[in-house]
Amino acid sequence: MKSADIRDKFLQFFSSKNHLVVPSAPLVVKNDPTLMFTNAGMNRFKDIFLGNEPAESPRVADTQKCLRVSGKHNDLEEVGVDTYHHTLFEMLGNWSFGDYYKKEAIEWAWELLTEVYKIDKDRLYVTVFEGDKSDGIEFDREAYDHWKGLISEDRIIAASKKDNFWEMGDTGPCGPCSEIHVDMRTDAERNSVSGKELVNADHPQVIEIWNLVFMELQRRSDGSLEPLKAKHIDTGMGFERLSMVLQGKTSSYDTDVFSPLIDFIAKETGKKYTRGDSKQDVAFRVLADHVRAVAFAIADGQMPSNTGTGYVIRRILRRAVRYAYSFLDRKEPLLQELAEVLIAQMGGFFEELKSNEKLIRDVIREEEEAFLRTLAKGIQLIDDILQNTKDDRIGGEVVFELYDTFGFPVDLTALILSEHGKTYDETAFQKALEAQKKRSRSAAVQDTGDWVVVGNYRATEFVGYDSLETEMNLARYRKVTQKGKDFYQLVFDRTPFYPEGGGQTGDRGYVEGEGVRIPVIGTFRENNLIVHLSPKSPEALPAAVKGVVDAERRSLTAKNHTATHLLHHALRALLGTHVEQRGSLLEKDYLRFDFSHFAKVTDEEIRKIEQAVNAAVRRDIPLEEFRNIPMAEAREMGAMALFGEKYGDSVRAIRFGESVELCGGTHVRATGEIGFFKIVSEGSVAAGIRRLAGQGARSTAP
Ligand code: SER
Repeated sequence: MKSADIRDKFLQFFSSKNHLVVPSAPLVVKNDPTLMFTNAGMNRFKDIFLGNEPAESPRVADTQKCLRVSGKHNDLEEVGVDTYHHTLFEMLGNWSFGDYYKKEAIEWAWELLTEVYKIDKDRLYVTVFEGDKSDGIEFDREAYDHWKGLISEDRIIAASKKDNFWEMGDTGPCGPCSEIHVDMRTDAERNSVSGKELVNADHPQVIEIWNLVFMELQRRSDGSLEPLKAKHIDTGMGFERLSMVLQGKTSSYDTDVFSPLIDFIAKETGKKYTRGDSKQDVAFRVLADHVRAVAFAIADGQMPSNTGTGYVIRRILRRAVRYAYSFLDRKEPLLQELAEVLIAQMGGFFEELKSNEKLIRDVIREEEEAFLRTLAKGIQLIDDILQNTKDDRIGGEVVFELYDTFGFPVDLTALILSEHGKTYDETAFQKALEAQKKRSRSAAVQDTGDWVVVGNYRATEFVGYDSLETEMNLARYRKVTQKGKDFYQLVFDRTPFYPEGGGQTGDRGYVEGEGVRIPVIGTFRENNLIVHLSPKSPEALPAAVKGVVDAERRSLTAKNHTATHLLHHALRALLGTHVEQRGSLLEKDYLRFDFSHFAKVTDEEIRKIEQAVNAAVRRDIPLEEFRNIPMAEAREMGAMALFGEKYGDSVRAIRFGESVELCGGTHVRATGEIGFFKIVSEGSVAAGIRRLAGQGARSTAP
């Protein structure tokens, strides 16, 4: 069975059991500060499990793009070394939100595996949770009894919390799980050692393929558990592993998910993939894996960059380039052509790959070229070091500097040194690395307390398009400590405070009640809650308060936001429609706009852009706001669906004359309020992406 058919069969099966089939959510997670990337199918449904949001349908099925390269689930260093780990993988899932529970989840999983996919029952084992004293949870008798009706009892294994209790992170929804494992070994091997002994023992051919999670608890930040309001099903089956099982392969890299990529690498480099452990074979797997992570991330709007999420993608890309460089002897770009093969292969199902093909290839090529130049420069630096030293052992600090300042990979340094019969001081290197990690950890560490629930409101209503002051009720608050300072996060039932989003900075101001006033120094969104940050505890406040937004700051920010829309429109009119927004930052004193364009914007072009924007300012074009209109209508008006962004059926559109954008931000009533627009700088932020900084407003306060 081809992998594309395997995916279809899964979705068809659950559709026949009345599940709504939904497309994968984007890889890059917005609105959830605890995650960078989707690392499990359930991420997008977290709020439904927690009871903060209603489900679109009580039964859902999907295949979710996942990336496990940061945080609690991080597989990056294993990828390529063995034959079954991946950075990007698809997780097939079926979901019940307070609907069916263990019985159906277990019976349908069994039916699909044994009757539709026809996996030999003698190769299957299942695990159930044995219970855990410290968490006060009993053996999962219910799951055991359902399995007992389907599979012989000597194939049911009780397993511990480590393997059979699923948690998304340190806090959040969780529950016991039951896993299905397949024994892929030959008959002779199976006769000599029972597969039962190899379950959960990291055997490459006795592997877990499906995890059924019975989501019924929530882990709080003090480590305690509390029951969720309803019981849910979250299942996740690794698509690449399933393909390996059904195609009778011993490695997922040998399935048709990866073979077109492996074949292309072989053809291009003239090397042979021999499925072994040599560095060359590892390089094949690293490339075939990493091109997927990078291409899908770019398709979902995540460009490689120097910080945060973008940096993770850049590191993955560089790891691939480095393996090609060192072990496949490839000194020229290769990944962007490999991306073309990938897009041809998967762009049918994942349409975002196809529609962003040019961007994906351009960005990858520029990144590859830049990193290949770094490698060449690093090699030159190492040569200089070698020329100037007679020692056989190079100092660890020097190697660290190469790594830290020039992005030169340490294992490559080691390799080049060893080619000259030299080594380096690894202890000193590790020490320098640890010191740097510690510095960045202490800058990022945040200690978050549990929510103190004051009033029961599940979402925050935003009223800030129409008013800057409103009566509101405290819903919950919690303390967070960062760099030794205490802050409070406050959530209300409604709020006029705009939460940071769409590039626009969050509002500031204050809340007050019964003579107590506390400042709000920032506002942001966390899923469907709007969170207000204050240096003061709200304990002295009454539950009903008044929220007041700093109107001056909001108005300046709105001017910069509207100016950005005019700028975007002028750029597309003057430079071409390949210009697409890639990011923006709108503050009270300036605006920043990143967009796709492959050349420096010349002084002459800048002058023309400024003229076009200022002409629109002088025309004093009125704001037309369309709230809650269907996406199709917004598109008809000329709005572009913003790349990587997930929009539900209704959207908000903002029109100023010819400029139409999907936008959740706040704007001026007419463009004349901006007064004057000026571009103050132009530069590059990443391959193929330019940045303009400008001003549509600036505060006059000192
Ligand atoms: N949440 C579980 C997992 O990621 C099942 O989907 O394995």
